[in-house]
Amino acid sequence: MPNQLAIASINVVLAGTGEGTVATDRPIREDQLETLGVGDSFRAASAFEGKLGQTTLLPEQDPVVIAVGLGGPEVTEPAVRSAAASVWRAAKHLKSVTSLLPLTTATELGAEVALQATVEGMLLASYRYDELKGTPEEASVLEQVTLVVPDGIESDAVLAKAEAVANAIALTRDLVNRPGGSLSATQLADEAVNAADRTGLDVEVWDRERLTEERCGGILGVNAGSTEEPRLVRLTWRPKGESRGTIHFVGKGITFDTGGLNLKSFEGMKEMKIDMGGAAAVIGAMAAIAAHSPDLTVIGTCCCTDNQPSPTATKPGDVLNIRNGKTVEVLNTDAEGRLVLADGLSLAAEEEPDLVVDLATLTGACLVALGSQYAGLMGNNDNAIDRVRAAANKAGERLWHLPLPDEYRKQLDSDVADLRNIGSGRFGGTLVAGLFLQEFVDETPWVHLDIAGPVTTEEPEAEFPKGATGFGVRTLIEIVNNW
Ligand code: BES
Ligand code: MN
Ligand code: ZN
Repeated sequence: MPNQLAIASINVVLAGTGEGTVATDRPIREDQLETLGVGDSFRAASAFEGKLGQTTLLPEQDPVVIAVGLGGPEVTEPAVRSAAASVWRAAKHLKSVTSLLPLTTATELGAEVALQATVEGMLLASYRYDELKGTPEEASVLEQVTLVVPDGIESDAVLAKAEAVANAIALTRDLVNRPGGSLSATQLADEAVNAADRTGLDVEVWDRERLTEERCGGILGVNAGSTEEPRLVRLTWRPKGESRGTIHFVGKGITFDTGGLNLKSFEGMKEMKIDMGGAAAVIGAMAAIAAHSPDLTVIGTCCCTDNQPSPTATKPGDVLNIRNGKTVEVLNTDAEGRLVLADGLSLAAEEEPDLVVDLATLTGACLVALGSQYAGLMGNNDNAIDRVRAAANKAGERLWHLPLPDEYRKQLDSDVADLRNIGSGRFGGTLVAGLFLQEFVDETPWVHLDIAGPVTTEEPEAEFPKGATGFGVRTLIEIVNNW
């Protein structure tokens, strides 16, 4: 796995040290502008307002001083990550930078949290997807980052944790950024196996033959048009001692979504390498979770195949047999994500875990409803929904609770099978997809995250360069940490 996080070295020093650096930062909250330590004329002339992530160079300072906005009045963990990302960007053409961010924000957040957020923000801002470049892009020259922290903090342990999280998100981003032609279901499964081997997770991979034996007709039906084999990957973290419970994550792993025989237009198809973003988030999160050694059993199931048209492809009107015994009339082969998830959710629910969370780039309608920055959240259990919302809030990942209205369930009634895979109406596509998935979880507490929007970003923002964001990884980690 190429390491795409481009900071050569991070070291931690105590307040009062950290000499000989090219630049330092000066973190400043919006309501503290007058303490910036520069004259009124500079303040009047500068557009710097202390807004979150804003940076400016202060005049006539040696070493260079980068003022960085913290926003405010409250400083949060996601805000520190964002500010740290801005410091990295402002300093990336310098040889070294010393950051006061972890010291300045330690009183409000706690020293460990402040340090971890700073390291994560800088590492994630330095992420580049360059594994397919023939001529490598010019590297940033920032080699040495020095972080100033208060006394009495276990900085080595915090650095290791931050690096585990950043590496997990970088892995997720790499997988999502990788084109469909370079990431078959088999290759995606291999990446999951590698991640498991690196981090000490158990892993099991089902090929086409095993999926047939296990009656996973949803995955097989989506795969029917492909020359590539499907894969179901199951990653497991098993605690050494007694387990306090079981959480099961399920990811949509469509390595490329052409739409199948209901072929997408070019406009609709060109981004569809991202359609395994749910599976990639599950793989990244499982890797980071293993590094935290929780006393819970955590399982990640990824349902992987591409969706292709061909004479052997599933045809509109065909009926598939899902793992849990329900039959589905496929009236649109482009509504494939819910078919592979139907098997994945059935498998998860069979084991009656305490919580199932699925992540999927499931519907374009979710982008219409919530725009590109919010994931849609649906679920069958208020407590489960509350927990996932709280985790996302802490993680700084935006999502919005949508309903699963009983009134719309009849849109999924089929004349020939138990269910149809698309609604009979034109509207509410995200909710109808959620209602479809609900048919495969029984009474198990379950939350569905439609991440079609935030899986990528067009506009680089804070610690998110253009392209894959790694959305979901942090929320899954927080769910486990707060269980
Ligand atoms: N992978 C797409 C959803 C998608 C669209 C994700 C845009 C990210 C950006 C999904 O498989 C799909 O094609 N959904 C259809 C469902 C429809 C046929 C009911 C859609 O959204 O149009
Ligand atoms: Mn589709
Ligand atoms: Zn899809």
